[in-house]
Amino acid sequence: MSDAALDVVEFLLTTSVYSDDRTLDENDLPPSFRQVFWTGGSGGSDAGSDDDDDGSGRRRAGITRPLSATNATTREATGVERPWEAVSDLMFTERDEFSGTITLTQRDLAEEWFLERVDDQRLLENPTLAKHFEDHEAYDGDATHEEARERNRPIQADRAWIDGLLEEYFDEEEDEDMLDLVEVRAPEEVDITLDDLVLTDDQENELDKIAKAIEHRDYLSQIGLREIGKLLFVGPPGTGKTSTAQALARDMDLPFVEVKLSMITSQYLGETAKNVDKTFEVAKRLSPCILFIDEFDFVAKTRRSDEHAALKRAVNTLLKSIDNISLIEDDVLLIGATNHPDQLDDAAWRRFDEIINFPKPDYNMRADILQVITRQMRIEEFDPQLIAEATEGLTGSDLRMVLREAVLEALTEDRTTLTQEDLLNAVEEFEERDNLKNMDMIEGDHDALVAGGDIGKASDGGHSHGHDHDHDHDHDHDHDHDH
Ligand SMILES: Nc1ncnc2c1ncn2[C@@H]1O[C@H](COP(=O)(O)OP(=O)(O)OP(=O)(O)O)[C@@H](O)[C@H]1O
Ligand SMILES: [Mg+2]
Repeated sequence: MSDAALDVVEFLLTTSVYSDDRTLDENDLPPSFRQVFWTGGSGGSDAGSDDDDDGSGRRRAGITRPLSATNATTREATGVERPWEAVSDLMFTERDEFSGTITLTQRDLAEEWFLERVDDQRLLENPTLAKHFEDHEAYDGDATHEEARERNRPIQADRAWIDGLLEEYFDEEEDEDMLDLVEVRAPEEVDITLDDLVLTDDQENELDKIAKAIEHRDYLSQIGLREIGKLLFVGPPGTGKTSTAQALARDMDLPFVEVKLSMITSQYLGETAKNVDKTFEVAKRLSPCILFIDEFDFVAKTRRSDEHAALKRAVNTLLKSIDNISLIEDDVLLIGATNHPDQLDDAAWRRFDEIINFPKPDYNMRADILQVITRQMRIEEFDPQLIAEATEGLTGSDLRMVLREAVLEALTEDRTTLTQEDLLNAVEEFEERDNLKNMDMIEGDHDALVAGGDIGKASDGGHSHGHDHDHDHDHDHDHDHDH
């Protein structure tokens, strides 16, 4: 019997058991199954007479019983191309020609058939069936409902769930600007994990601590420790601040809510303070989640300068919101990030209980980063130590760029296997553009101005040559470079 039949029968059994057992909830369905049955919330008027109307005219998102399995839903949930064909010759299945619904005519036979073929590993992926079978007389395995629940990804981590919530909260037309200010990512959409990052011991310790705090937040609440769970990541561009926050979200299955502070300026200012409020409300509703606020120095800068009063109000709202949110009470882990710790004022500093330093990587870290980012590449005579020696002062992001350069360069010769030589050339190339980049700041006699024949004689400090534009990418143009 093919796996396809087993997949489809599992799905049919799950929909049947879930429909009957009202003690089961969304988190008892495997993500691929529940995504099929998820109906998003809706803002506004069209939900007036709906059953699930919560009184505010908005429909709550959710999964409605009974779950019915059609060819289409079964295909989407299981990935089996022709679900009905896969199970049509089993004696306990039936298909209603009119509605297209596939049902189990004799559930006990289906259960027996299923139990003969399923193993513990598979059952642990499906809490609904784990619960159904754990005390079943014909089941002699060890899978338990509790363990299956623990393993199952929580619904808060599903994109569909997040979208439902956002729709519920934000009126699409009214709050269009809002989408510029916050971005919500489901953990399944984050493609970096902590394994991909090389962290300092200090960083690892701090992250361990916070993971423990999250795990034991009930205990912390009991003993009255509430000033926990606001982290500030400090360090130059490209040192992994954003990546680490995202990887945390992914590894801990938490939605990632990112606030882009610089977008506050481009907003219709009257709405901004309100939107900041909403952002925090959304984070609370999405919780447990990570709220990531990048460019935190923006806060201090705004408070200092004589900016528009509405902008200052928005920033003050932000600070107040930060005070009112808590990991222990709201299940929101707040992470701020900045490249300019020197520009933060006291008001900003004292809102964070842990500061995590993201320094430029030292020699050993660079070698490790090189190992990690080349995992999928073929490189002859690869010696990461040697490259690490040649790349002092470069960040993880720089090293990625070096590798990209080497790969592209090799492709121009139709090679997909790199050599150590390619890497060394790319490092040299990188240093050259780095020099060009710094010319804007250092007036006059820079090496590159005299030595680099390709940029001609620039005597005015480097503003006239056409190269610098493609070199300054997302890095800041100021004191961060220590060459
Ligand atoms: N320690 C590291 N280990 C592995 N990769 C790294 C490391 N540091 C940076 N990178 C890589 O460099 C790239 C840029 O990192 P990231 O965006 O996280 O930096 P950042 O500190 O947020 O920078 P910015 O301050 O400019 O926002 C990412 O692709 C990331 O994977
Ligand atoms: Mg960043």
